[in-house]
Amino acid sequence: MEKMPFRDARMMSLQTVAATSTATETTTTTDWKQTLPVLTGSMVTLRELRLSDAPSLLAMLSTEEVARFISPPPTTVEGFERFIAWTHRERAAGNYACFAVVPHGMDAAIGIFQVRQLEPGFGTAEWGFAIGSAFWGTGVFMDGARMVIDFAFDVIHTHRLEARAAILNGRGNGALRKIGAMQEGILRKSFLRNGEYLDQALWTILDEDWRAQRVIWGARIH
Ligand SMILES: CC(C)(COP(=O)(O)OP(=O)(O)OC[C@H]1O[C@@H](n2cnc3c(N)ncnc32)[C@H](O)[C@@H]1OP(=O)(O)O)[C@@H](O)C(=O)NCCC(=O)NCCS
Repeated sequence: MEKMPFRDARMMSLQTVAATSTATETTTTTDWKQTLPVLTGSMVTLRELRLSDAPSLLAMLSTEEVARFISPPPTTVEGFERFIAWTHRERAAGNYACFAVVPHGMDAAIGIFQVRQLEPGFGTAEWGFAIGSAFWGTGVFMDGARMVIDFAFDVIHTHRLEARAAILNGRGNGALRKIGAMQEGILRKSFLRNGEYLDQALWTILDEDWRAQRVIWGARIH
């Protein structure tokens, strides 16, 4: 959220995992540290970032409305290429995963979802997201978010998934509330943006709560 998208991460762990996408009932067996699974939802596919995504990500994520409450994104295609190469290194090290958001019928990435470990083994992790404003309010966020949260809890075995959103970020906080995150508190003056310290809300989802909520969603679908 906030600064997550374009900042550093560290740490590692190793194991082979079975990646499942409940949204589509497709199962991909993979070691996510070698390559991220492809997750197919009702509106978007989530997949590993490619260097060729750099131009579309620049167009989508460097706009004022998208970047206002997150760490400043790269400002050039080359800058995004360096970011994408960094995401591959961090994934290979087992510290972090960054998915490209690709709407069905398109090849270009229009946003990203990220998960990084806050402690070794991903027990506590932080997620973040940014989507091109042309796709706000379309359902793309919810479709992608469900798959990323499934990935965090089912594949990398996160127990507690945190997110931070600047209080002034109405859509960011609205999106987190809608996905079922719980606001635990306010992190006062915790995010430096444009020379000003902003308050952030701390939002969390626990694995057990997500699984209970998923059962309810599943029941609604059928
Ligand atoms: C965060 C983001 C991915 C969410 O995607 P989105 O498509 O805008 O999200 P949605 O429209 O599905 O959900 C946002 C919700 O917030 C609500 N909302 C919008 N403005 C709001 C405001 N000022 N206050 C409270 N809620 C607000 C929306 O009405 C919507 O809820 P609804 O569907 O029940 O009406 C997208 O807005 C984005 O990329 N923002 C820029 C990057 C960013 O800030 N990322 C970090 C977020 S912490």
